[in-house]
This record gives sequence, structure tokens and C-alpha cells, in this order.
Amino acid sequence: MKAVKITDKIYWVGAIDWNIRDFHGYSTNQGTTYNAFLVLDKKTVLIDTVKELFYDEMKARLTDVLGDKKIDIIICNHAEMDHSGALRKTIADFKPQKVYASTLGVQNIKEQLGQDLQIEPLANGATLEIGEDSFTFLESRMLHWPDSMVALLNKENILFCNDIFGMHYACTQRFDYETNREDWIYEFRKYYANIILPYSKITGAFLKLVEQKGINPRMICPDHGVIWQKHIPEIIAMYKDFAAQKSKKKAIVVYDTMWGSTAKMAASVVDGLASQGVETKSFSLHTEHRSDIATEVMVASALIFGTPVINQEIFPSLGDITTYLKGLKKENLVGAAFGSYGWSASVLNKMEDIMKSLSVQIVSPMVKAKFVPDAARLKECFDLGAAVGKAAAGKFK
Ligand code: FEO
Repeated sequence: MKAVKITDKIYWVGAIDWNIRDFHGYSTNQGTTYNAFLVLDKKTVLIDTVKELFYDEMKARLTDVLGDKKIDIIICNHAEMDHSGALRKTIADFKPQKVYASTLGVQNIKEQLGQDLQIEPLANGATLEIGEDSFTFLESRMLHWPDSMVALLNKENILFCNDIFGMHYACTQRFDYETNREDWIYEFRKYYANIILPYSKITGAFLKLVEQKGINPRMICPDHGVIWQKHIPEIIAMYKDFAAQKSKKKAIVVYDTMWGSTAKMAASVVDGLASQGVETKSFSLHTEHRSDIATEVMVASALIFGTPVINQEIFPSLGDITTYLKGLKKENLVGAAFGSYGWSASVLNKMEDIMKSLSVQIVSPMVKAKFVPDAARLKECFDLGAAVGKAAAGKFK
């Protein structure tokens, strides 16, 4: 395993996880990378490690550069185990003199990996001299963990930003300019939608702070995906839009179905939305993953749920997606609900109640079909879609 030279003094020494398809409940259809970076100066500095399972790969890349030399300093920008999992083994083999993390990083790493680890805290704004160059550390609390921080290598003007600007995308290329934009652009948006979205206000404030401090890196190195060089202005602009929760004139219909009735209703709802000129995507929970739905919801202005009734409850898959979306805290949605039932119509009210708990503004009464929707019920579904479409379109006038 070879390290990849990033600049004359920096190497990528991470690992490529081609096969992961589920990252704590998030579907990673294109795998991921765990990026770690080795900086060679008077001090040899490793920034972050990898998931424990990938330690041997990182070790081989480190050894490719270092031979039998040791590492002087390890910086842990983030305590989550896809970046800290291999820390204990790295310390054992490379014997660093110092291991640093943010104040909360020290706590979180020790709580996960063991209190015996010797890790020192770095204060927000601290500087660390490593020879010709130096690092400045900036806490990025709740982006996306309390311990998160970023490290700016000052003279090189390179920002190591842990999960911020990351994406789950495995590839052999290390730089954005070596890849096809269309191959990763969805993964970039998906990462924000599923990881960063709940912290959008903090993201906006952080981007402002970086601007105020005059930080304008020539290279941005996240812990997942590619290193940004060519697309830096674009990804920052996208993050600003994401952080502002900017939406499109777009509606998302999410439903499940037992015997096809709710699916029929969904089709009429979609027609109603289209009648108002609203771009619409319809997702069956039989086939679509929650994390892909969340990616679309992030840029939508309307959200409609459809459910059957089973055992006096809404369908379980609707419970899953709504629980997930509640945590992601998408704002400014209008919507409505529809559903089919056999003998317990009132159970369907739970769907609307859940939507209200997601802060979706209900703009049309729920449509309920007994067993199979007839033409009149399907017309009501069309009208529901049209009403929601009108409300969504009205946001853009
Ligand atoms: Fe990539 Fe929050 O860990």
C-alpha cells in the first residue's frame, strides 16, 4: 500500500472502504474513504487515523513514507470511531511523543477507547509549531460532534476539516480535479443531508467565522472523500445554501403500501402536484432507503406521507422514515397526508400528528380511503396534491 503525495511535505495515508454499504443507518452505495494525513516537518505529524478495521492499510501507507521512523505528534480532529478507532494501535506502533485533541475530544476519545490513553487538550485558537510550519486549531463544535475541530496548516494554507465538506465516496483518485463531478455531486449533498443538516445554523455561523478570520485555504482536506482544490468555491457556496436550508419548488411523496391502495393514492397525489408545476419525486418505502429520501427532502419545500393501517398503527416503515427525518430537522416544509384503512380510519390521524411534530405545515386535510380508493377518493388525492403544490409554489412568488 502506497501513500499518496499531496504536496512536497504532506501525504495521504488513509484507507479506502470499497464495500461499506451501511454507515450507521446511512446507505453508502459508493463506499467511503477514511482520510488520514501525514505532515513532514521538523516534527512528523499524523492528522486523524482510520476505522480500526483499516489500521493495517493505514500502517502500510505510513510505513511507505516513514520506514521505521516514528511519528512525533498525532492530532485527532474528531472522536468518532471511523477516525479514532485505530488510534490505540497507531500509538502502540508509532510511539508519538504527543497526542492532541480538542478539550471535549480528549474526553470523548477516552470514554470510547479507554481512560489510560495519554491525550492532551488543545484550546480553541491554539497554535502548534512543528518546525517551518505551524497549525492553528479552531473548534467546530457540533459539526458534527461536540469534540469536532479543524486544523489549519498555516504556511501551506491547507485546512484539515474532519467530516466537514466530506462525502462517502470511494475512489482511487485523491483530488477533486481527478474525478468526474457528476460521480460525486449527489454523494456530497447526501452527506450534508444525513450528517450535517441538523446543525445548519452552526454550519452557517462557522462558515462566517472562517471568512471573518480570513481563512481562504488553497486545499481543503476532509476525512471522507476527495481533497478539494478545484471545486473549493463551489462546495463552500453549496454549504452556504445547505446551511440556509434553501429549498426548491419541489415536492417529495413518501409512502408504503400493503395491497396497492396507498400506491394508487400516491400516484394521484403526484399528478396533483405536477398540475401546479412543482417538480415531484415519489418514493416507495418498499424500495427506497431513508438516507436517499432525506437527501431529496433537504432541498424540497413540500413533503407528503401516505400510509396503510396495520394492527391499529401506521405502517412501520413510516415510523422509521419520520423518526429519521425528525432528527435531521429540515425546516420550512408544507405538506399533507393520505392513507388507506380497513376498519380503523382514526388510526390514520397519527400520520398527521407525526408530521406536525416534524414541523411540517399541513395545508390540506388528510384523505382516507377505505380498502381500495374509488374514483372520488382518487380525485381527492389529486386535489390534495394540487393544494400542497399550490402552497409550495406560493413560497417562490
Ligand atoms: Fe466521519 Fe463523524 O465521523
